[in-house]
Amino acid sequence: MSVLEIKNLRAGYGDLVAVSDLSFAVQQGELFALVGANGAGKSTLLKSIVGSMSVKSGTIIFKDDDITTVADYKRIQAGISLVPEGRRLFTSLSVEENLLVGAATGRKGPWNLKSIFELLPIVEKLKDRNAGRLSGGEQQAVAIGRSLMSNPDLILLDEISLGLAPIVVEQIYAALPDIRNEGLSIILVEQDLSRTLKVADKIACLLEGHLVLEGRPSDLTHQQITDAYFGHSIASFGTSSNGANS
Ligand SMILES: Nc1ncnc2c1ncn2[C@@H]1O[C@H](COP(=O)(O)OP(=O)(O)O)[C@@H](O)[C@H]1O
Ligand SMILES: [Mg+2]
Repeated sequence: MSVLEIKNLRAGYGDLVAVSDLSFAVQQGELFALVGANGAGKSTLLKSIVGSMSVKSGTIIFKDDDITTVADYKRIQAGISLVPEGRRLFTSLSVEENLLVGAATGRKGPWNLKSIFELLPIVEKLKDRNAGRLSGGEQQAVAIGRSLMSNPDLILLDEISLGLAPIVVEQIYAALPDIRNEGLSIILVEQDLSRTLKVADKIACLLEGHLVLEGRPSDLTHQQITDAYFGHSIASFGTSSNGANS
């Protein structure tokens, strides 16, 4: 069953169209990885899904309901949660208070303070600390915990490894299997292709706002993926001016 279905989505800022002609579906329990260069439209797509920006046209179906024009807070209540680029914690609150804000939807499920502390032990150690005084990696762990506290059916992770030390990234990625065990669907935005390929069930590549490649990592070659990522595959669609004919 698909938990999310995007049809012909077009979104942007004023006259700028950041994503267009986007159609894809995410299945229940699937880890759907979205890759693409800076400015490809990944964050715009995630913001459109959670409703923090309105779309220009197209349809967003979540668990069989058309949520295209539904308010953002209602989407959170329905079970969509975003861990935004840059974390955006409430910096005047403690770590524990940040987690409790995440629980404000009142949705039932496996995630509560106790299970978050088991999943991310570092968060328990920091629970009384002010969220504004954490390192980037600590903040990221708290942001993921806060998002899970809403017991979502679909969690959107926007560049959770950006700017973090490799060891911290390893710890955060190590939590993904346990998150998935709870049946959650995940859209993971990541710039590191090799890390993505290790964890993803499905991978989709955005290039200049268009979906240029989608498939299971085992069905795609590394060359196909890097070509889509960097735009070389455009040549085979005849829209490139560089004359490549791969
Ligand atoms: N708040 C904004 N106002 C205007 N343009 C934006 C804004 N955010 C992003 N953009 C533009 O939209 C395009 C897609 O950006 P974004 O979705 O952030 O890409 P990505 O997350 O893949 O790096 C880029 O051209 C970017 O400059
Ligand atoms: Mg982004």
